[in-house]
Amino acid sequence: MTDFRSSPEWRSLSARARSGFDLRQAFHSDPGRTARLSFEVGDLIVDLSKHLVDPEMLDDLIAIGQEFGVLRAAEEMFNGAKINTTEDRSVLHTLLRTPRDEAPTAALKPELQSIHQTLDRMAVIATQIRSGNWLGYDGRPISDVVNIGIGGSDLGPAMAYRALRPYRQRELNIHYVSNVDPSHLASTLDGLEPATTLFLVASKTFTTTETLTNARAARRWLLDRSGRSASVAQHFVALSASRSRVEEFGIDPLNMLPFGEWVGGRYSLGSAIGLSLMIAVGPQAFHEMLAGFHVVDRHFRDTPPSRNVPLLMGLLGILYRNAMGLQSYAVLPYSQDLERFPAYLQQLDMESNGKHTRRDGIATQGDTGPVLWGEPGTNGQHAFYQLLHQGTTIVPADLIGFAESHEESDSQQDLLLANMVAQSEALAFGRTSAEAKELYPDVAPDLLDHRTFAGGRPTSVILAPKLTPAVLGQLIALYEHKVFVQGVLWGINSFDQWGVELGKQLADRIFNELITPSRPVLQHDSSTNHLIETLRKARGRD
Ligand code: F6P
Repeated sequence: MTDFRSSPEWRSLSARARSGFDLRQAFHSDPGRTARLSFEVGDLIVDLSKHLVDPEMLDDLIAIGQEFGVLRAAEEMFNGAKINTTEDRSVLHTLLRTPRDEAPTAALKPELQSIHQTLDRMAVIATQIRSGNWLGYDGRPISDVVNIGIGGSDLGPAMAYRALRPYRQRELNIHYVSNVDPSHLASTLDGLEPATTLFLVASKTFTTTETLTNARAARRWLLDRSGRSASVAQHFVALSASRSRVEEFGIDPLNMLPFGEWVGGRYSLGSAIGLSLMIAVGPQAFHEMLAGFHVVDRHFRDTPPSRNVPLLMGLLGILYRNAMGLQSYAVLPYSQDLERFPAYLQQLDMESNGKHTRRDGIATQGDTGPVLWGEPGTNGQHAFYQLLHQGTTIVPADLIGFAESHEESDSQQDLLLANMVAQSEALAFGRTSAEAKELYPDVAPDLLDHRTFAGGRPTSVILAPKLTPAVLGQLIALYEHKVFVQGVLWGINSFDQWGVELGKQLADRIFNELITPSRPVLQHDSSTNHLIETLRKARGRD
């Protein structure tokens, strides 16, 4: 497997990137720059003009993407090839949002049918709950739904539930419990009525300790209060790929919504895992979101490389990570409703591409996935933007904004948008010492440096008319495919997550050592042994 970093094209491109790029000059000498480097995908306008590339560098990046087979690999994914090689699985989250009659291959027709059967069943359940026809054990309708899941079985629906706040049915409250910390479930159940609460146990594998522990505790809570074992059937629904484990847990398979093994947890919002969201916003809005995903899937599949937005975003990230050695990457939504979007993208990006072994088992030649983080603007501006502007490292950032708010406001939305645009301008162009001097003529020269800004800090600005379900689907798919592009170039499998196994296995062992009544023989390092002994003592076990 040849690494793109060995190619002469990459070597010359990365040398150019490292030699510095003057954004001011780039804009000055090319009045058509923004027109050339702004793109449309679905309802999104993506302005990439404030990145540290000129059109020729972008062409070179595209040529590298082509040579190393990014779009070929995408085609394999869409057509169901087993590209998740370490788990011997296809990767078919794109099928989850494919219209009923548009199976990409004849072989995928039955799978697409069963996806739509599940979507139909989800719609029946969601409608029953929304219309008050799903009754709890004392005959009253459901008022609260608690989704118990973690990672991809939590972050997607929880993020989208917040993002689509204006589309929610007001009388229904949806809650998300993920942490094995007992206070998460307890604080959520505090004040809920068991007779009107429905639990969705969301777990692809149905083996995840946190989820099963919380689900058992929720079942005890219900049974203790209802006093009837039959109440579990009315109050528990399972969302899973494993029918046998759902049965073993004690949930009737009739109350189970299935999905395929080929959906990675972090890609599963469009599957049965999205049921809590569908209950909140209704089947129609959920389908609009799926249609939004599909628009970007089609764009990624069908658009030539020079206008293919996820491809371009992925390639720019490669340049920053591998040519310039930039370690982190910020996503800054100018939308409070997108407050959980960075956390959602963290799993999508870091669990997919935080890897050091290539598909062929060889160590990667250089860096892979960046650290992704972010907070909504303008909150972040009063916290960490200082470092973005004047810190000693460059953090490429995506600023996401919406022309219209869902709220009535005279000019508050304008104020929010003005901040977003101002940040992209300030980060790109900074302020020279001559400009600072002109602005602050009375400030002593040795204090002026504090008021200068180097600029040259790249941003993408992503604009949409409004945060609708369709736009949310488009945004998510944009990042999914961006992550895909980078995974292909790094030669890694973006669809497994072996990196979380070691911690899980050690936690199981230490859990047994913490709870065993007789003092265990500890065979860890001295620090770990000491921590376990201290905790055993603190918890009255020795
Ligand atoms: O953290 C590892 C992981 O497997 C994630 O990839 C996944 O989203 C999460 O755990 C939850 O898994 P499950 O849906 O099987 O409970």
